[in-house]
Amino acid sequence: MIRPLLVAANWKMHKSSADVSAYFDAFDRAAPAPRAGVEVAFFPPFPLLEAVVRATRGRRHASVGGQTCHWQAQGAFTGEVSAGMIADTGARRVLVGHSERRQLFGETDETCALKLRAALAAGLEPMLCVGETLEERERGSARAVVLRQLTRAADGLTREESARLTVAYEPVWAIGTGRTAEPGDAEEMHAAIREILATLSSPETAGATRILYGGSVKPDNAAVLLGQPDVDGALVGGASLDPHGFAAIVAAACG
Ligand code: PGA
Repeated sequence: MIRPLLVAANWKMHKSSADVSAYFDAFDRAAPAPRAGVEVAFFPPFPLLEAVVRATRGRRHASVGGQTCHWQAQGAFTGEVSAGMIADTGARRVLVGHSERRQLFGETDETCALKLRAALAAGLEPMLCVGETLEERERGSARAVVLRQLTRAADGLTREESARLTVAYEPVWAIGTGRTAEPGDAEEMHAAIREILATLSSPETAGATRILYGGSVKPDNAAVLLGQPDVDGALVGGASLDPHGFAAIVAAACG
């Protein structure tokens, strides 16, 4: 099964509209020419979605997404943004259940399940983020936690819905800390995630689902992580803010 690698930039709460064109100018100069087998995605903050959609228009290998969404289509939910509103900007993807949302904003497996379904209903491709805390890893429950997060969010999807799902394994202790999972540990978790996906959907769908690794991915560790058979890309936070750094990670994916 050949899965195109997906290298995704999570800008979190960074950058302004004035930064967007300079970012893509620099990225275009530094990144390798787009090629089959390697795709890029950008997750900017909501106010920059349209500008990033415009900046990436016409690029076959690039897509754009929101960093979260609400599960209702509309209503009296001050401050929230629905999946349909994200789709309306021309964006194609949305992150669901990023650990910062789970840890800082009270998202639960149940709200992630609702958001995942709302994203699918709006025609988006959700990227479900899962990952254990340091305490959970040290207790030996990393695998159980990740599999619970995955199952609670993604059980009961139709075949067509499962085909639009991407997963990002992001150990919480690796995010923004400079610590990454050992490539072998990442591979083990990715393989376990794919096994569960096969039982939730089908072996064929699971075989085609991209499972990204995230957590302190940098230009100097990307190649070895992306070289693992079940690591199908990277979700990059800090290192994606610099267009040269992000381009170097895309170059690592291009091999
Ligand atoms: P990081 O963030 O690359 O800064 O560790 C990854 C993420 O949170 O998606």
